[in-house]
Amino acid sequence: MSHAEDHAGTRRDFLYYATAGTGAVVAGTAVWPLVNQMNASADVKAMSSIFVDVSGVELGTQLTVKWRGKPVFIRRRTQADIDLARSVPLADLRDPSAENANKPGADAEDKNRTLDEAGEWLVMMGVCTHLGCVPLGDAGDFGGWFCPCHGSHYDSAGRIRKGPAPRNLDIPVAAFTDDTTIKLG
Ligand code: FES
Repeated sequence: MSHAEDHAGTRRDFLYYATAGTGAVVAGTAVWPLVNQMNASADVKAMSSIFVDVSGVELGTQLTVKWRGKPVFIRRRTQADIDLARSVPLADLRDPSAENANKPGADAEDKNRTLDEAGEWLVMMGVCTHLGCVPLGDAGDFGGWFCPCHGSHYDSAGRIRKGPAPRNLDIPVAAFTDDTTIKLG
């Protein structure tokens, strides 16, 4: 990947981040740091769920939102992204677990990583499982994400394929509440 392509991917991620900040995220997260320090009750934790409007997310692009102080990638995958992820044998994966809070114990098959059955929507913490940097989208050797901090490559399902990261990108509790809204938490 050329430097120019890499830069374009970064800029696009940034633009979506800015969009999210101006209205796509309809519930505030500003209370989270305080809530977190206080070791919140389940009630308070429920309030830290957010609803994200994904109606503007085009195929092949990614919306990044901040949730509980961390970036969350909401990727709308193309059929090519899906086919690529589904063509990988489980035996080729370093981390055999889906790492999906919505499917505890499931294996890392692509269908266990996505929010919908068709595999179009992939929602993941944008936090490298090595030391916590934010991976870049549309980058790396496996058609997914690349973490520039120490060179971890994730595939189009967010599964670790090369580099020092030990685990697939984590998938948080998430669900569609209607056709165009995803609830995180
Ligand atoms: S933090 Fe991502 S590779 Fe080290």
